[in-house]
Amino acid sequence: MVRKLIFSIFRYNPADPSSRPQTKKYKLEETENLNLFVALNKIREEQDPSLQFDFCCRAGICGACAMVINGRPGLACHTKAKDLPADISLMPLPGFKLVGDLSVDTGTWFRSMNEKVESWVHTDKKFDPQAEEERMGNDVAEKIYELERCIECGCCVSACATAQMRDDFLGAVALNRIARFIIDPRDKRQEKEYFEVVGTDQGIFGCMGLLGCEDVCPKHLPLQDQLAFVRRRMGIHALKRILPWKN
Ligand code: SF4
Ligand code: SF4
Ligand code: FES
Repeated sequence: MVRKLIFSIFRYNPADPSSRPQTKKYKLEETENLNLFVALNKIREEQDPSLQFDFCCRAGICGACAMVINGRPGLACHTKAKDLPADISLMPLPGFKLVGDLSVDTGTWFRSMNEKVESWVHTDKKFDPQAEEERMGNDVAEKIYELERCIECGCCVSACATAQMRDDFLGAVALNRIARFIIDPRDKRQEKEYFEVVGTDQGIFGCMGLLGCEDVCPKHLPLQDQLAFVRRRMGIHALKRILPWKN
């Protein structure tokens, strides 16, 4: 039997002074393999052209379609209606500036985070476009690649209690970035430089370790392992500062 889906969607346009936050209901017949990205487009095309939401790649690559789906952050384009009950609630990701309805501005947050953790390889080498590529062992390259798969969707930030309580918390995504640079032999930063960036309450020592971030990451990044890795490295560095004979 074809299911009748009922979408309860958060509606609010902060740019319109007459707009008030509310939930609007839309009905849609389920079709085979319907995903939420297609469902939202159908609702916008057939029922309500004013509905705002973001998408770009439709393939789980751009991170733009992240939203809270039945209480859990996830990607609309990667979520199939058949995996959900017929009542589907959609909310914008918390922790980011609301653009309107389901659309949030994750870009400003991620730009600021990337600047704070200096998210680039620090090296004294001058860039020579004629030079041959430097070789890197496969094992290191694979480890870096694994952590580079982050699509900056923001789901982990929205699922993180610390990030929701504290605007200055860098979040698992930033700690994962730092882990990626620590293992990159081209990055010449010393332990104390990493410590200045994430050896604080805004960084790894503010993390409560409940792992909402890992639970919701649509790319299944090993965030738990990276948080433990950074915590251990920064913990050892902190210990050496207090107990210099540990060096
Ligand atoms: S484990 Fe840390 S980073 Fe992850 S959700 Fe919890 S507080 Fe946030
Ligand atoms: S770590 Fe995962 S949940 Fe967080 S921004 Fe990257 S892909 Fe999204
Ligand atoms: S539209 Fe790009 S991740 Fe969903």
